[in-house]
Amino acid sequence: MGISRKGLNACAAIFAIMGFAGAGWAQSVAGAEEYTRACASCHGLTGHGDGPLAEYMSIPVPDVTQIRARNNGVFPMLEVIHLVDGRSGLRGHGGPMPIWGDRFEAAVASEMGDVGTEIAVRGRVLALATYLEAIQQ
Ligand code: HEC
Repeated sequence: MGISRKGLNACAAIFAIMGFAGAGWAQSVAGAEEYTRACASCHGLTGHGDGPLAEYMSIPVPDVTQIRARNNGVFPMLEVIHLVDGRSGLRGHGGPMPIWGDRFEAAVASEMGDVGTEIAVRGRVLALATYLEAIQQ
């Protein structure tokens, strides 16, 4: 275990993204890119649940621009983070929604060491949750 050099570099990169002027911009661009790459196939480019894969899902793909509206006007940030991450098992097992925490972890694991990987995974999930918050209607 222990924090590897690459892990520290990852921390530094994330602090840099969070700390500098324009942090909000970096967050939303990161989230938007990630969303387009990983989520739009089901949830649709604009989030209305109408991506090309949606028709093949066994259950309806939710409109992710309506999360706040469905939750009495409050965006449930923490719940969304856990839901997208999926590793906490907050959502019932066996749902068709991929466990993004596991996928993101697998994507970077070999490069960053345990701690760096976890920080990178949380950064990606947080960027996505922040993006979802921004597209609520
Ligand atoms: C393979 C299709 C698919 C992909 C890709 C996908 N989702 Fe989903 N998503 C679903 C389905 C189906 C549900 C509803 C059932 C469930 O929660 O498993 C859902 C539910 C959700 C919910 C809960 C919405 C609500 O109102 O309860 C959120 C938030 C969400 N997805 C975000 C994302 C994000 C962010 C990504 C990309 C990292 C993503 N999804 C990628 C299929 C997908």
